[in-house]
Amino acid sequence: MTPRFSATAVAHSNIALIKYWGKLAILGNYPAVPSLSLTLDALYTRTQVTFDPLYAQDEFELDGERVLQRPLQRVSNVLDAIRSLSGLAHFAKVVSSNNFPTASGLASSASGFAALALAATHAAGLSLAPAAVSSIARACSASSARSIYGGWASLEVGADSANALDSGQNWDVTLIVAITDPEPKAIGSTEAMVHCADTSPFYPAWVETAPALFARAREALHRRDLDTLGQCMEESTWRMHATMLTAVPAVVYISPITLAIINEIRARRSASIPAYFTTDAGPHVKVLVLAKHAVAVRDWLTQVPGVTNVIVCKPGPAAYVEPHSAEGHSA
Ligand code: DP6
Repeated sequence: MTPRFSATAVAHSNIALIKYWGKLAILGNYPAVPSLSLTLDALYTRTQVTFDPLYAQDEFELDGERVLQRPLQRVSNVLDAIRSLSGLAHFAKVVSSNNFPTASGLASSASGFAALALAATHAAGLSLAPAAVSSIARACSASSARSIYGGWASLEVGADSANALDSGQNWDVTLIVAITDPEPKAIGSTEAMVHCADTSPFYPAWVETAPALFARAREALHRRDLDTLGQCMEESTWRMHATMLTAVPAVVYISPITLAIINEIRARRSASIPAYFTTDAGPHVKVLVLAKHAVAVRDWLTQVPGVTNVIVCKPGPAAYVEPHSAEGHSA
């Protein structure tokens, strides 16, 4: 029988509190601003990669559908990097599934490329350190570099790979995701951030002020200071969206429901539930609270008109290879 080389990996999605939005003007997909994120237990991608000498091209199946064109090209870029590192020349079949809506601002590319990089390196017989897998993932989608790590992670300006900051096991925080609209987004984040850099007069200020905000947030995380961390998260969110709203033409991911939830959070906060929001390249809102407030916040988010689902997330684990999924190698 012809040897196949296969492995399956799981990577959890991460949400940035301090946002990555913009690339350095050099090849290789390096971030222009530092970011800080939390990997989530409840949202994940599971990906099987099989290299087989009988395949005539790379194939990519996502949530049961065959995917072609640019998403397939991005997958092939990761596979190419791993083929050149391992010396394995075969094409591969990639079968991936998300347990949440794809491409709608729930960081599916983060968990997706992290799971792909990890599964493909193992399928190709490489056993790399997490930083090396994070670097392969980052070159394709920078936010995915952070999903290699569990808990809190960062990705600094121009960095090759993300850093693990804290396992997330010693601070009882919860991130609650309020889903408002499961439709895929109109414009992908890669294209949108380049467009903001090219056309928004606010973009230079965003890049200039991001490092100080990141440093404040990292320090607040270190002290387990939810209020300061939450304030930094909201400042980063608004500044990122300011670059989007002032791009020409504007990029608008937030919806009236996004704003209704944000207003609700601000009102509840002044009535003494310390909850803080962020939103990404989509209309959903993610709310950071201490675990003791999670049930109350979940219950009122569920009541907000236009919220279709609420997912309560704890800090999630690092990406991992499923036991016994590797085929074709002795290790
Ligand atoms: C708003 O990582 O999807 O989620 O590197 O071009 O693939 P590429 O961009 P991507 O951007 C994520 C943007 C964000 C903020 C964040 O996750 O930091």
